[in-house]
Amino acid sequence: MREPDRALSPAALGDAGFRADHGVRYAYVAGAMGNGIASEEWVIRLARAGILGFFGAGGLPTGRTASAIRRIRAAIAPGQPFGVNFLHNPVLPAAEDELVDLLLAERVQEIEASAFIRATPALVRYRVSGLSRRADGGVAIAHRVMAKVSRPEVARQFFAPPEAAIVERLRRAGAVTDEQARLAALAPLADDVCAEADSGGHTDRRVAYTLVPHFRRLRDEIAAATGLAQRVRIGSAGGIGTPDAAAAAFMLGADFVMTGSINQCTPEAGLSDTAKDMLAQADLPDFDIAPAGDMFEIGAKVQVLKRGSLFASRANRLYELYRTLPDLAAIPAETLREIEERYLGRSIDAVWQETAGFYAGRAPAELAEAEANPRKKMAMVFRWYFVHCGRLAIDGRADQRANFQIHSGPAMAAANRWLKGTSLEDWRRRNVDVLADRLMAETARLFEERLEAVRLRAG
Ligand SMILES: Cc1cc2nc3c(=O)[nH]c(=O)nc-3n(C[C@H](O)[C@H](O)[C@H](O)COP(=O)(O)O)c2cc1C
Repeated sequence: MREPDRALSPAALGDAGFRADHGVRYAYVAGAMGNGIASEEWVIRLARAGILGFFGAGGLPTGRTASAIRRIRAAIAPGQPFGVNFLHNPVLPAAEDELVDLLLAERVQEIEASAFIRATPALVRYRVSGLSRRADGGVAIAHRVMAKVSRPEVARQFFAPPEAAIVERLRRAGAVTDEQARLAALAPLADDVCAEADSGGHTDRRVAYTLVPHFRRLRDEIAAATGLAQRVRIGSAGGIGTPDAAAAAFMLGADFVMTGSINQCTPEAGLSDTAKDMLAQADLPDFDIAPAGDMFEIGAKVQVLKRGSLFASRANRLYELYRTLPDLAAIPAETLREIEERYLGRSIDAVWQETAGFYAGRAPAELAEAEANPRKKMAMVFRWYFVHCGRLAIDGRADQRANFQIHSGPAMAAANRWLKGTSLEDWRRRNVDVLADRLMAETARLFEERLEAVRLRAG
């Protein structure tokens, strides 16, 4: 064994440039959790500990995100790391522009961009409006982008400069300067691309063993073709809930690791204690795949906690009805009664009134389309159930546990077993920064131990 003073430091894992650029202690990121589950307190705790976390802006009104940014800023020192999640919004594209206006007004320097299929003008505007010429002729980047991606065709867009046609449109509209438009061709769209394998929440169910090496090679191919000076770093997310998994990710060549599920079962996360108690009990088989409410029509999936909740089976049933029936009127009477009583807790008419009220203010064209298209109306009514069930878990309505929608994956179960019998067995002691410290410290120890074992065997 090595001398203790020569032991591998957790601060030496991953890429040194990552730590320097983000101003963090570790090549470690706590990924965003929408609807403010990655709350202000959660971000503040991480920032004060020198660890990067992203505020969970997905699903929140812009005003709520604005107040969160101000609160976080007021609570941390200048230069302490934090960012905001920029979740692609396929239903309300205007919401993306609103968010970018806010990010620019508040001078937010870092975003986690996720759920993108194609880079949108709003995302490109955020990135390019932060470019300037350095004294040495290089490109200075004031708006850092960490893209979270599970498909190569999406990843390749972030390894390369943004689409020239989008940049040109932004230049003509005066959203970026002529100089920024020129510089856009000289830098990749993202600084960091996190390869997301099977995870809690939205998931394409990929495997890290294939995804990370694939993205690294794709990155190198695109760098060779474009000749860009900046090397885009590759991270690994999905399934990381133990030191063993984090060590494996670094061995795969990840420049940094990102955790998700484990950070929800912490005192700072914006989720009810009832739901956290459920998560702390979870074992490996306790997760299931359900449709994603925000991308219901295109069949996207989320991974959720199954133990203690019927949400996954109910949501899958609604999706099956959507897939096979022409409209709400075609739902058999018996099924309709069950849905109204057990799932929605109110009539479909009441759900529609509420939904129509929301869209009348936010997106009247969507509403008009749904009124003319019964299948779209059915999707909008069913989507209400998903929002409702997420809210129930956040608020902790114990009598409604059967409908709790709790995004989570097996990393949570692995962490529960790892922490069993330790000072962090009780989730009330798993502060989000303490968890990161413990994970990285044990990852370094384990990494060293395994390498040492190989060296010894090799003689
Ligand atoms: C409750 C929950 C909510 C999430 N919400 C978001 C989100 O709004 N935006 C996002 O980019 N990722 C979101 N994620 C994904 C995480 O940021 C992270 O990428 C993922 O959880 C990593 O995989 P793991 O759960 O296996 O650790 C969410 C994850 C969970 C568990």
